[in-house]
Amino acid sequence: ADGSIEIPVVFHIIYRTQSENISLAQIEDQIDALNEDFNLDNPGRASIPGEFSTVEADINITFTLQEVIRTYNRSRSWRPDDSMKFVSPVVNPEEYLNIWVVNNMPYRGGNILGYAQFPGGDRATDGVVLDYRFTGTTAYSTGRTATHEVGHWLNLRHIWGDGGCGASDFVDDTPDSDGPSRGCPDYPTVSCGTNDMTMNFMDYSDDPCLNMFTLGQKDRMWSVFAAGGYRADM
Ligand code: ARG
Ligand code: ZN
Ligand code: CA
Repeated sequence: ADGSIEIPVVFHIIYRTQSENISLAQIEDQIDALNEDFNLDNPGRASIPGEFSTVEADINITFTLQEVIRTYNRSRSWRPDDSMKFVSPVVNPEEYLNIWVVNNMPYRGGNILGYAQFPGGDRATDGVVLDYRFTGTTAYSTGRTATHEVGHWLNLRHIWGDGGCGASDFVDDTPDSDGPSRGCPDYPTVSCGTNDMTMNFMDYSDDPCLNMFTLGQKDRMWSVFAAGGYRADM
C-alpha cells in the first residue's frame, strides 16, 4: 500500500483516583506525540546521526481522537493480562486503535509502562495499554511509550530481536544489537560489530532519546494494511 492512512483512536481511561482520570489535554497531547513520531516531526530528530538519518522514515499515519470512555474501578493495580479490556470493552477494532490507560502495572519486580497486542490476535483484546504516568507529557514521559507500543500493534519487534547478536527483528535496515538500551546512550554505542540504533522507537532508551522509525520498519507496518493484511479494513 502507499499514500497515507488515518487511524481514529478510542481511549479507555480506567481510574481509581482523580489524578488517574487524566485530562482531555493529556490525551490530546498523546495524540500529538504519536502524530509527530509517525510523520517525521519528532522534536529530537535533529540529533539523529548521519548514518541513520538516511534510513529515517515518514510512516505517514495520522492519529485522530475518536472517543474517550471513562470508567471508575477500585483496582489499585493491573496485571498485563488484558483484564482491563473487559472492564471497558474494545470498540470496533477493525477500524479503531483502542488504548486503555490504567494506574499501575507491576511486573517481575518492576513496573511496565505499557504493552501491546501484535496483529492477528483476539479482536476483544486488540490494542495498547498504557500506565497513565506514561501517557502524553508528564513528569516521566514525553509520550513515546505509546509510539513504541503502536509499533508493536503494527507488527514491529524490538530492534535487538529479543535475543543476542544474530536475533532478528525481521527488518534489514535496523542494525543487530545484543540487547535493549537504557537511559540516553552515547553515540556511537557499539554491539555486534556495528553502531546501535539506540534512538529507534523500538529500543528501550528514555523517551527524549527515542526519535525514529526506519524505511524497513515502515514496510513492515504498511504490510499490515495491505490487501490480505491483518488490518486491511482500516
Ligand atoms: N513495554 C515497554 C516497558 O514497559 C515499553 C518501553 C517504552 N520505552 C520508553 N522509553 N517509553 O518497559
Ligand atoms: Zn516493546
Ligand atoms: Ca535488523
